[in-house]
Amino acid sequence: MRVKSASFVISNAKVSDCPKSSLPEFAFIGRSNVGKSSLINMLTGRKQLAKTSGKPGKTQLINHFLINKNWHLVDLPGYGYAHVSKKTKKEFQSYITSYFLERKQLINAFVLIDIRHEPQAIDLEFMEWMGARQIPFSIIFTKADKLSESNIDPTVSAYLNVMLEGIWAETPQHFITSTTAIKGKEEVLAYLESLL
Ligand code: GTP
Ligand code: MG
Repeated sequence: MRVKSASFVISNAKVSDCPKSSLPEFAFIGRSNVGKSSLINMLTGRKQLAKTSGKPGKTQLINHFLINKNWHLVDLPGYGYAHVSKKTKKEFQSYITSYFLERKQLINAFVLIDIRHEPQAIDLEFMEWMGARQIPFSIIFTKADKLSESNIDPTVSAYLNVMLEGIWAETPQHFITSTTAIKGKEEVLAYLESLL
């Protein structure tokens, strides 16, 4: 897919205020600082479309961008566990869960994982939460430039094996990306196009 146009539409704190249009949408989600906004800029070829920062917590709202006038790309804040009083159960923040439960336009979510880190409980639990609700998602490993070329495939295989040893019978589609080395852009865009 060639991104011919990309523009910011609106930021919202509540899912109910998000665009009412029925345009198909794709969301980018993951822990804070994993590289969601940077990846969106790489995919669209617009350096400043989504705001990025070295400090975690830059993206605080649900941000809609219109791409090629026919689909929405959504930049979400990083996920974490909400502080639920009097409950021991861990829950994700409600604006994240409401987005995924309510947004009928969502075609696929991309869950971003920093390739340098051992599998983290919060990412595995988020993907399990998505799986249990049959919300389609793929994995995007980010910051591949931080590993040597020979370490990339073994690291990804080790990650996916942890999923297979857990609840997963098969692993989701995955991509390996770097925004500094411009890696994985065509693969992710081709996949997006195949789902549209
Ligand atoms: P929040 O909005 O805070 O949740 O963060 P985010 O997931 O949107 O991350 P963001 O795109 O703002 O990037 C966080 C930091 O990681 C920035 O300092 C980026 O420059 C850096 N970064 C993002 N992608 C890459 C990458 O592929 N390689 C390297 N080396 N750094 C990256
Ligand atoms: Mg961001």
